[in-house]
Amino acid sequence: MMYDEDNPKFWEAKYKSDDAGWDLGGPTPVFVNISSKLVPKKICIIGCGNGYDAVMFAKNNFDVTAVDFAPSAVTSLKKLSKQNKVNINVLEKDIFSLPIEYDNKFDYVIEQTCFCAIHPNKRLEYEKLVYSILKPNGKLIGLWFPLDKNIKDGGPPYGTSVEEVKSLFKNKWMLESEEFPKESIKPRRKREKLIIFKKFEDSAD
Ligand SMILES: C[S@@+](CC[C@H](N)C(=O)[O-])C[C@H]1O[C@@H](n2cnc3c(N)ncnc32)[C@H](O)[C@@H]1O
Repeated sequence: MMYDEDNPKFWEAKYKSDDAGWDLGGPTPVFVNISSKLVPKKICIIGCGNGYDAVMFAKNNFDVTAVDFAPSAVTSLKKLSKQNKVNINVLEKDIFSLPIEYDNKFDYVIEQTCFCAIHPNKRLEYEKLVYSILKPNGKLIGLWFPLDKNIKDGGPPYGTSVEEVKSLFKNKWMLESEEFPKESIKPRRKREKLIIFKKFEDSAD
């Protein structure tokens, strides 16, 4: 089944009509804080949007791949990376059809308002995708949002809950940490939770 939001045109129209209400206009404070604590390695930002975090991680010496299927987002990110003189592997692709060369490729995957952008019926597929692109022991670093919206109220953004997220990343995953970060921007405080899951080392298949 195809949903409206499966089509890049759905998102492109939002960028074109300046209706990107999710856009922070700069790097996400929670991820800025995290980047200073992680060893810089291969990182993938799925549904990266305009790519401020992609550039921020690249400036902090991470090897960044950023994926989005909306042409305007990709164009903005390419421009931003040029301005900042950083190299980023920018992919204008559907996250659900990444080439096989990205299997077991990343040490970290960043989630921010991508999970809530896809239809809830595709959440299992989302888990499979993240599992497949992470290396064993790799980490999914997610700001899970919006926790105050019921899935039945539609979207995007589609609501979620901490329970749902934990049940999705249960088998083959270890919950590493969870917190309501003090760095969350004010309008998202307590409406998003930072939860980090680790892919089991012995579970590469
Ligand atoms: C709500 S926006 C969030 C953008 C960015 N993460 C941020 O926080 O600014 C969702 C983004 O995911 C992208 N997206 C949605 N579904 C996608 C898919 N299946 N493949 C690639 N990108 C997708 C959209 O084009 C859009 O840029």
